Amino acid sequence: MNVADKLDMQDPAIVANPYDIYRELRASRELIWSDRLNLWLAPTLETANATLRTKSLGRIYDPAQPADEWEIFNWLHSDSILDSEPPKHTRLRALVQKAFTPGRIAALAPNIIEICEQLLDAAQEKLNETGTFDILSDYAEPLPVLVIADLLGVPREKANDLRRWSQDIVKMYEYGRTREQELAAQKSGREFSEYISALAKERKAMPAPDLITALVEVEEHGEKLNEHELIAMCVLLLNAGHEASVNGFGNGMVSLFQNPTQLALLAKNPRELAATALEEMMRFDSPLHMFERTATTDTVIGNTTVLAGQKVGAMLGSANRDEAAFENVDVFDITRSHNPHIAFGAGIHFCIGAPLARLEMQNSLPMLFERFPNLSLAGDPVQRPTFVLRGWESIPAN
Ligand code: HEM
Repeated sequence: MNVADKLDMQDPAIVANPYDIYRELRASRELIWSDRLNLWLAPTLETANATLRTKSLGRIYDPAQPADEWEIFNWLHSDSILDSEPPKHTRLRALVQKAFTPGRIAALAPNIIEICEQLLDAAQEKLNETGTFDILSDYAEPLPVLVIADLLGVPREKANDLRRWSQDIVKMYEYGRTREQELAAQKSGREFSEYISALAKERKAMPAPDLITALVEVEEHGEKLNEHELIAMCVLLLNAGHEASVNGFGNGMVSLFQNPTQLALLAKNPRELAATALEEMMRFDSPLHMFERTATTDTVIGNTTVLAGQKVGAMLGSANRDEAAFENVDVFDITRSHNPHIAFGAGIHFCIGAPLARLEMQNSLPMLFERFPNLSLAGDPVQRPTFVLRGWESIPAN
């Protein structure tokens, strides 16, 4: 069997450990065609970077069919920044970039610290009562949801709905899905967009110092943002603003538990090591493993010509283990100083929320260890059965 065809993303063994196959995929250093996925795989840092940075490889949204059944879901994507290309992407990115200036992000630090304190208090109480708490559902999961809700101006009580809507929508990004999952994605897309639409109307009537109001004002004052784009932007920010952060933190915590020397090192120096530790957590077991691009013209990557219309998958999780780019790739080293990982992507779609994700972890990681200096696993973590969004369902700790 061709090595690329071994990559069966629904195989539980590969979801549990994709890294052995990734090593084989990188051996030729070139793109590899996968019959199974009907696309080129870009598994090295160089090819994945080139895939994300080459203009003729675009994020072209493939509308789900039948169109009437998927209408809302489809425009939530085709009108979003993530699924558009220049000139539309340039316009949308410039609008939202204003909300992600270093000053505005830094100003969120007090919210982050306050939310972490509250979550840690609740976790401590749970630990006292039951002898255990869950690093994911009690800490890693609520934190980024509440922070992005604060930034947008969505009430914190809505956090559970946001999480459910987002989870239903992102299941569509996996390979192989059930009818039940499709119906849940359609329903959540509809509920989510109706909720944001109603909130935008409220802000139109009564402005507030939040991002939704800022976007509503842009929509009202010109041609720059239409209603679908406004709603799609908010939905994407709310989803992208927490999904990867939850999994990045969870994956990193499991890596720490699997490497007790590193765990002890971080627990002893949480503030000093947080910055390099979080980058290593992102690199070693990245939360997002593959993003596709489609060739708009014949495009050469390395020694391969990608024909117009063909797709290429940039394999972030594999690129971040590329032995040609990192020393001791399979060693989890929280003091690693040269770490050019691409967990946040590259090129024009480079993660706009990377500074926020980093700020969250720079606070939440040391705060967790300061509260629980002897943190350990209280049972086996349970992995999610998903390949593209790689993460854990639960991480019991005490
Ligand atoms: C650990 C946390 C995160 C990781 C690993 C991550 C990763 C990524 C990656 C890989 C992309 C590029 C996708 C592609 O090229 O196709 C991306 C795009 C994006 N991310 Fe993040 N992200 C994280 C957190 C966040 C946060 C906190 C926000 C918002 C507050 C956010 C908002 C976005 C947006 C809006 C885009 C689309 C940018 C564009 O298309 O121009 N992300 N992210």
